[in-house]
Amino acid sequence: MPPRAVYIQENVPLAPYTTFRIGGPARFFCEVTTTQELLEAVTFARECSLPLFVLGGGSNLLVTDQGFDGLVLRVKIEGAINTGGGYREDRPRQASVTYDVPGGMDWDAFVLKVAKAGVTGIECLAGIPGFAGGAPIQNIGAYGQEVSTSILWVHVLDLETLNFVSLTAKDCGFAYRCSIFNTTHRNRYIVISVTFRLDLDATPTLRYADLKDYFAGRGFAPKPIDIYHAVREIRHRKGMLILEGEDDCRSAGSFFKNPVVPAAVLQNIAATLTLPVDKIPHWPAGEDRIKLPAAWLLERAGFPKGFQRGEAGISSRHTLALINRGHASFADIAGLRDTIQCEVAQRFGIQLEQEPVQLGE
Ligand code: EPU
Repeated sequence: MPPRAVYIQENVPLAPYTTFRIGGPARFFCEVTTTQELLEAVTFARECSLPLFVLGGGSNLLVTDQGFDGLVLRVKIEGAINTGGGYREDRPRQASVTYDVPGGMDWDAFVLKVAKAGVTGIECLAGIPGFAGGAPIQNIGAYGQEVSTSILWVHVLDLETLNFVSLTAKDCGFAYRCSIFNTTHRNRYIVISVTFRLDLDATPTLRYADLKDYFAGRGFAPKPIDIYHAVREIRHRKGMLILEGEDDCRSAGSFFKNPVVPAAVLQNIAATLTLPVDKIPHWPAGEDRIKLPAAWLLERAGFPKGFQRGEAGISSRHTLALINRGHASFADIAGLRDTIQCEVAQRFGIQLEQEPVQLGE
């Protein structure tokens, strides 16, 4: 067998690879930037019968204090963005542009490039930390856009067959914060690159209240680049822009998903809080169902912005972000999470679901 080109390290602390800055070591750790290195690392894991975990930007990850007894593969496939053009088969007169983006590219840098080109479709996803390859995994969404609507193909390594395959957006089974990659086919595929397709003659639409408010009264129709900067500013205000040295940034963004519940739950909450129904923020979410802002539920359950419990806490700028106040362990964060989930379930009968991926025992 030829000598391995990839460098496999042992007992590597994972905390520095996560935005939470929490977590014990990986027994083995390897960073790969090419598909050849990726195959070698996967082969190593197989030969040693090691469980494999694929790490991207570490911005949606909570690692346990024990760490991971397997191989953590930091996949950062590099390369150039290939840009193409064409017409949509479903709308033949609709000119579009495609971008083939290597999985290891910084997501925000790609969004900036597209917004600067004056192309609309992903500018509301500005400032989301992580790599482009992570975008389809949890179908990132923010400020009125979801990445799934702009994805044409996701190119992956299939760990079952060790073949490189291309999945259509339909194959990926996208829904709110989910896809086959984090549900039915978790751990089967590694994203190598993503092809985005964006319509060239589309104009930006402001759907989200925060953005409408931002541009209200400014008297001009914002271009994608204006929206890119506005979203970053709004995220910054909410402590949702990862900036080194800012206390509220040691987090994994939203810690809970916004729960989707039967519309009737609204009446129960109104009764519990003696509030009129129209004072409870909510969004329609399909037939007879609504989505509730988890942040709002947390505040009503006694967990306001700036809440502290030992080294764990809640961001002073957004209630949905649990934060590491400096020296939090996994146990600190998990303890606060459990208390919150318990309290929200008791008060409102709603089971909040953790959003970040959890790694380790
Ligand atoms: N709210 C509060 N307190 C707060 C913040 C928000 O009560 O401190 C309530 C308000 O009623 C507000 C509502 O929550 O109107 C919604 O707040 P926000 O617009 O900040 O959005 P979110 O629902 O908390 C979601 C995503 C974010 C995304 C924003 C903007 C989820 C779990 N989170 O947050 O995504 O940036 O919308 O689109 O869907 C992430 O997934 O990590 C993430 C940051």
